Amino acid sequence: MTPFLLVTDLDNTLVGDDAALKELNQLLNRHRQEHGTKIVYATGRSLALYRVLTTEQQLLQPDALVAAVGTEIYLDVSDTPDKEWSEKLSQGWDRDLVVASAAHFADLVPQPETEQRPFKVSFFLTEAAAVEVLPRLESLLKDHGIDAKLIYSGGNDLDILPRNGDKGLAVQFLRQRWGIDATQTVVCGDSGNDISLFSVGEERGIIVGNARPELRLWYDINPAKHRYLAKAACAGGILEGLNYFGFLA
Ligand code: GLC
Ligand code: MG
Repeated sequence: MTPFLLVTDLDNTLVGDDAALKELNQLLNRHRQEHGTKIVYATGRSLALYRVLTTEQQLLQPDALVAAVGTEIYLDVSDTPDKEWSEKLSQGWDRDLVVASAAHFADLVPQPETEQRPFKVSFFLTEAAAVEVLPRLESLLKDHGIDAKLIYSGGNDLDILPRNGDKGLAVQFLRQRWGIDATQTVVCGDSGNDISLFSVGEERGIIVGNARPELRLWYDINPAKHRYLAKAACAGGILEGLNYFGFLA
């Protein structure tokens, strides 16, 4: 068996079905010990909220943590985000100007302080308001010369990120650093902020059975042999997909 790189979102992807998570953890742990498989968590959460989750759930220690929707990469158990990655993100990014532009929209409700990060400005936004606010905010940011990316997830969360940052680009960065091919990489997710994981390249993709409408819609428009829509939810869907791609054979 060959080692592979497993990249997975946490909320409602890896986490959500305790029994399936336990089974998957055992399998991955063994694969890591016997074949050198690597595990990366790619989450929207800040490091602080990731730590909270580790007290609530049985999670394996990852080889790297991609936090804050791909804008921070923590290698091993380091508390400091990777500097090379931060430098890439700072190009064309003006956080204060992003905050000032967003202040024009009453529908944007700021998320808690822990989730406001150097390269991520986050709000709650209802689906009803999003239809009108997103295009207007996008053009205002453009008028201000800000090269930003808007990511809307779960009909509730809006993240504004630098052009060079998202989960997918962070995974490319890690793959290059570790010298792992896209064909030996599996990415798993359930919502809008995971779309970049699937769209960035030829990585094997597992969309869990409980995926949110925005990701399902994207998948319907972008079907590919290297993407698999699982029937089972959460970790059960990951297990199903790993078998489908033959990574556990
Ligand atoms: C997580 C983060 C939040 C973000 C959301 C969607 O819930 O805590 O800040 O908006 O993921 O990416
Ligand atoms: Mg999720």
